[in-house]
Amino acid sequence: MDNYNIAIVGAMGAVGKELQKILIERQFPIKSIKLLGTATNKGREVKFKDEILYTEEVCKEAFKDIDIAFFCLEAEISKSLAPIAIGEGAVVIDNSSAFRMDNDIPLVVPEVNPESLRNHKGLIANPNCTTIQMLVPLKPIHDKYKIKRVVVSTYQSVSGTGKNAIDELNEQARDYVDHKEIKHSVYPYQILFNALPHIDGFLDTGYTKEEMKMINETHKILDKNIKVVPTTVRIPVFRGHSESVNIETELPFNIDDIKELLGKSPGITVLDKPEEKLYPMPIFSEGSSDVFVGRIRRDFTIENGLNMWIVADNLRKGAALNAVQIAESLIEQDLV
Ligand SMILES: NC(=O)c1ccc[n+]([C@@H]2O[C@H](COP(=O)([O-])OP(=O)(O)OC[C@H]3O[C@@H](n4cnc5c(N)ncnc54)[C@H](OP(=O)(O)O)[C@@H]3O)[C@@H](O)[C@H]2O)c1
Repeated sequence: MDNYNIAIVGAMGAVGKELQKILIERQFPIKSIKLLGTATNKGREVKFKDEILYTEEVCKEAFKDIDIAFFCLEAEISKSLAPIAIGEGAVVIDNSSAFRMDNDIPLVVPEVNPESLRNHKGLIANPNCTTIQMLVPLKPIHDKYKIKRVVVSTYQSVSGTGKNAIDELNEQARDYVDHKEIKHSVYPYQILFNALPHIDGFLDTGYTKEEMKMINETHKILDKNIKVVPTTVRIPVFRGHSESVNIETELPFNIDDIKELLGKSPGITVLDKPEEKLYPMPIFSEGSSDVFVGRIRRDFTIENGLNMWIVADNLRKGAALNAVQIAESLIEQDLV
């Protein structure tokens, strides 16, 4: 197998750091690796395998000879840097929302639509964390029973917002214990002991942009005919997003068959033994690659209704791992 020159842009952020770990864990074929970021973080020493690397400030020259560039940046910064990296010959895998809905840019969950990579033009978009973990189990159910409608409520961790939000929850917890005033700047309210039904900006329809991502990305990746009704909520968990998902299918199903189907599908662990108090939770998913599914039960209020509880590590399958799997799929399909 060939080895590749890799760059991680935003390497010291929440997703970028996880990406470094995952490349090592999965023994990604690396010839060289560059850790790029802002001038503020330039020259920081980072251990990568047995090597000591120094973070560099991102610039045009930094992309010279890079084969694959993982972008772990805010959307606006991705928009300005992606053409530069592609111009230097790199294939960009972008974690932000900047390009996800562009018609000619593949939006990929490797367990769901790896074939979409075939026509890439140097840029692949990684879907939103909430969409990725929902679509991994929806895909086998849709293939067999045809999903008509999905009603989903999310319980999203603060690491989904990035490193500043992790720091903010830590500080609020410390200030609470020290009987100090609880301050906030990342979120519009204190997140400690709270639940914010507000992720990303509100639109005129009353939905948030985060909710629209779940609708639009499901349509682009899986099937445009599936109706999706989301409510996205931020909760004071450090890591791991949870989702309560109600599904209506066209064809009838047997609950045991659904459990068996999910159990043998790639990337899924069924954890569903309520009698032993075993169900997916963020504390179980942290550091894991799989999407965990449990509380699988019939919705008795409609003809073909199904409920389930889905949990995944948002920094891994929701971001860094999915990006690395996209790169692996590109290599497998000889597209890089
Ligand atoms: N967190 C998640 O669970 C998750 C899931 C899916 C998608 N995403 C998306 O992934 C992207 C990164 O998220 P994150 O959570 O890792 O954010 P983060 O923790 O805030 O990290 C952002 C990184 O961007 C770097 N950066 C900022 N401005 C830059 C510039 N002008 N040039 C180069 N680097 C710059 C920062 O570098 P310095 O370290 O040098 O300041 C930092 O390392 C976002 O688009 C986010 O929406 C995140």
